[in-house]
Amino acid sequence: MSAGVERFFDRAALDWDSRTETGTPTHLEPLATAVLEEGPVPERILEVGCGTGEGALFLAREFPRASVRGIDISGEMIRRATRKIGLDPDARVAFRVGDAATLPWPSESFDLVAQINMPVFFSEMSRVLRPGGRVIVTCSMGEQTPFFTPMRLLNRRFKKVGLEPEGSGRTGSGTWFIARKQAVTHGG
Ligand SMILES: C[S@@+](CC[C@H](N)C(=O)[O-])C[C@H]1O[C@@H](n2cnc3c(N)ncnc32)[C@H](O)[C@@H]1O
Repeated sequence: MSAGVERFFDRAALDWDSRTETGTPTHLEPLATAVLEEGPVPERILEVGCGTGEGALFLAREFPRASVRGIDISGEMIRRATRKIGLDPDARVAFRVGDAATLPWPSESFDLVAQINMPVFFSEMSRVLRPGGRVIVTCSMGEQTPFFTPMRLLNRRFKKVGLEPEGSGRTGSGTWFIARKQAVTHGG
């Protein structure tokens, strides 16, 4: 990932919360809808391209027993996200700077990997996901979202890295998509 992207989003971070819809119902509705789809309750959650942290903090509220991590290439985004954590004695929520192309966690670290309005890093999302875990890809403005990835591409590319598409839909102005990593089958 180029330093240009990092610089661009460092600048964008300065007024991200006041200039964009981040954290509003419009922004979070696709994620809020996707997490209601039937599935196991996640224990370890990652938000990729978390920006100023609104998606990760929403997931922390939604799954109060889960540990939640957020990663973003922009140090300025992460500084702003970290300031929002507040009282968190168990260090359940943490944000760090890093590139989604080379996620700094071992394989199979998470059972939910989510993202809002962000390019999709298929291989890395799959690598850090436990068997049986899910990815959620949302775009708050649907096809109008700058990093929108068409559903047929999400279907095809996630299948290639071992995930089975489970559902997708529209809600408000946004879109959501869920895929599950194949669980390991034992026995003969
Ligand atoms: C359109 S913003 C969305 C931010 C946040 N998810 C939201 O919805 O408010 C895209 C975010 O992805 C981050 N980003 C872009 N490329 C990235 C990469 N390769 N690794 C990690 N973060 C990246 C940017 O720094 C930026 O914060």
